[in-house]
Amino acid sequence: MTVQFSDPRPGSLEPYWMPFTANRAFKAGPRMFVAADGMHYTTADGRQVLDAMAGLWCVNAGHNAPRIVEAIRTQAGRMDYVSSFQMSHPLAFVLAERIAEHAPAGLDRVFFTNSGSEAVDTALKIARAYHKVSGQANRVKLIGRAKGYHGMGFGGLSVAGIARHRRDFGPLLGDVDHLPHTHDLAHNAFSRGQPAWGAHLADELEAIVQIHDASTIAAVIVEPVTGSGGVLPPPVGYLERLREICARHGILLIFDEVITGFGRLGGPFGSGVLGVTPDLITCAKGMTNGAVPMGGVIASRAVYDAFMSGPDAAVELMHGYTYSGHPLACAAGIGALDTYEQEGLFARGPEICTAWEAAVHQLKGARHVRDIRNIGLLAAVELDSREGAPGARAGEVIDRCFEAGVLVRVAGDNLVLSPPLIITPEQMAQVVETIDAALKAVN
Ligand SMILES: Cc1ncc(COP(=O)(O)O)c(C=O)c1O
Repeated sequence: MTVQFSDPRPGSLEPYWMPFTANRAFKAGPRMFVAADGMHYTTADGRQVLDAMAGLWCVNAGHNAPRIVEAIRTQAGRMDYVSSFQMSHPLAFVLAERIAEHAPAGLDRVFFTNSGSEAVDTALKIARAYHKVSGQANRVKLIGRAKGYHGMGFGGLSVAGIARHRRDFGPLLGDVDHLPHTHDLAHNAFSRGQPAWGAHLADELEAIVQIHDASTIAAVIVEPVTGSGGVLPPPVGYLERLREICARHGILLIFDEVITGFGRLGGPFGSGVLGVTPDLITCAKGMTNGAVPMGGVIASRAVYDAFMSGPDAAVELMHGYTYSGHPLACAAGIGALDTYEQEGLFARGPEICTAWEAAVHQLKGARHVRDIRNIGLLAAVELDSREGAPGARAGEVIDRCFEAGVLVRVAGDNLVLSPPLIITPEQMAQVVETIDAALKAVN
């Protein structure tokens, strides 16, 4: 079969086993997108749909940003691929340098991966190997958090805290424990930004240290803002306490910034916006604006330097991927940073985040709404669960929103919103009005 790339038409939908998808339902009623531009997708039947989820929390500068498209095009015609093992190409170094400029002070060494899942597994491995090279090989335990999402590798899944993601895959890593999550509507319902209640929950790390002993713990990994678990901003003071406890016990702190990196919280990294610096940051998604798969780990100079101690000719970290630092991904990453910087998308954070907060909280009092949470350009509207069918109502709401021309994501009983950073006040109003109408229409 010859494919017409200008107008591709699959002969059959069957061979493609789709990820995180009800395959049979999709294939019975496919939802296909054929083009995108700025804030909108075009569907196969020619409708414009406002993208209120930035692809999948990744298209932060809006779709088909011209600088990114041009960077990929240029690089594709110049050099398609080169291994990153014992050789490289200039763009990888330029991108690492540019990322380091935006990362919190002290974090300036960048390891490239191809996804958030790989970034997380890489960070967990770096944490263990760091303690080994530092003469503390007993430190192998990894601490995650309930409701956490860290991708789908066995490492990320082991530290994650969403049961339905873990239950089908047999034994995960054994040396793992979890902090409690911070979601409590009795204290935090309808909070704007960081909730006031909950910093004490970080002290649970002390309890975990009491059980396992600090000398066995390698790292704590949390999302600064829980994303897929339902958009849970950290309580005021919570991350600071985690930071302090980790430092006191020699435990590395990893922030999984796959969602919060590259502008989502109103600055280049969530760590900077929230004022807490971890030892390692994982990132992906907005790193290339979603245009080419890429992820990375940003390490502190202290962590990196610990590895640079053996013979000069020895490989310091036995880890990497065929496509680490892929030339097209690096081009896209540089194009994305150019776009964020030159369009002022990092700088306009505070203004746009305030407008977003005001817009989404208009849904307070709307039918079925039990909570609204927001931070940066993220929000969740939590709905009352339908008796015996959790998530069903939210699923119907997002279907209605899609029919009405707005793409919203569902996570359990939450409507999850993470629009591109270029969203206008009018488009914010459109999102809110469309959700409100859908809520009125469902039982
Ligand atoms: C916080 C976090 N970590 C890791 C991942 C995994 O990223 P990927 O799907 O690129 O592997 C995600 C994806 O949504 C995420 O939100």
